Amino acid sequence: MDSTAPPVLDGAGRANAPIGVFDSGFGGLTVARAVVDLLPHEDIVYLGDTARAPYGPRPIAQVRGFVLEALDDLVSRGVKALVIACNTGSAAALRDARERYGVPVIEVVVPAARKAAAITRNDRIGVICTRATASSRAYDDALGASPVRLFTQVCSKFVEYVEAGVTTGSQILATAREYLAPLQEAEIDTLILGCTHYPLLSGVISYVMGERVTLVSSSDECARTTFAELTGLGLLRDDLDHEPTRRFITTGDAEQFQGLGRRLMGGFVDGVQAARIPG
Ligand code: DGL
Repeated sequence: MDSTAPPVLDGAGRANAPIGVFDSGFGGLTVARAVVDLLPHEDIVYLGDTARAPYGPRPIAQVRGFVLEALDDLVSRGVKALVIACNTGSAAALRDARERYGVPVIEVVVPAARKAAAITRNDRIGVICTRATASSRAYDDALGASPVRLFTQVCSKFVEYVEAGVTTGSQILATAREYLAPLQEAEIDTLILGCTHYPLLSGVISYVMGERVTLVSSSDECARTTFAELTGLGLLRDDLDHEPTRRFITTGDAEQFQGLGRRLMGGFVDGVQAARIPG
């Protein structure tokens, strides 16, 4: 499906355009927040496809279609760069997205894999992710050139907990213990949070894994890559007194999204709008 033609931007117009951030739902907000920490003057448009989340249990081909529809929507809003703030979405649609759009497309998998490979001391890395990300083998590919062993664990229920606003308590602790036991047995020293929902669970994950295991957040690494790419391309705003705007759009229920935002991220999520995609 073709997107609406985006406004033609060049020079300062292009640098002053917003950054588009996309996730299946709420998880990409961990990326958006990390981007805001590093680039506080930038405008952001966030799109969460909450109506069709979770993506993790869906076939990769279906996820690819959903991601491209969502990215078409962001491009039609005139963004200067796309951040696929979703491991499942990156695994499914990165190549198509890079071919399809005339703006830089930044993703989460390679930045996280690169960081994990750089910091592991025993070359035993774990990744926790959705079923779709695991079956795409995106992390295996990203780590292919380094001499590490990768242990993959699917943690499907984690996304459901986050989307329900549950990040602490005995139930999630029991679930985390069950999911993470094989990675403890594998004696990994580095664990990639290979889903952007999971940084909101890093309390319980690090509690279970213990302090000898270093967590790598795909969200933080993606934000650093966003900073580096936009700096390298000369695409950052230079009017540092600009009052940034942050728009949050969901394909689901705006009130629910805002409520969850308040609960898990305080004042970061404000003024959520509902939209349909395709529009
Ligand atoms: N946050 C998404 C990711 O990074 C996936 C969540 C979902 O299953 O929709 O993989």
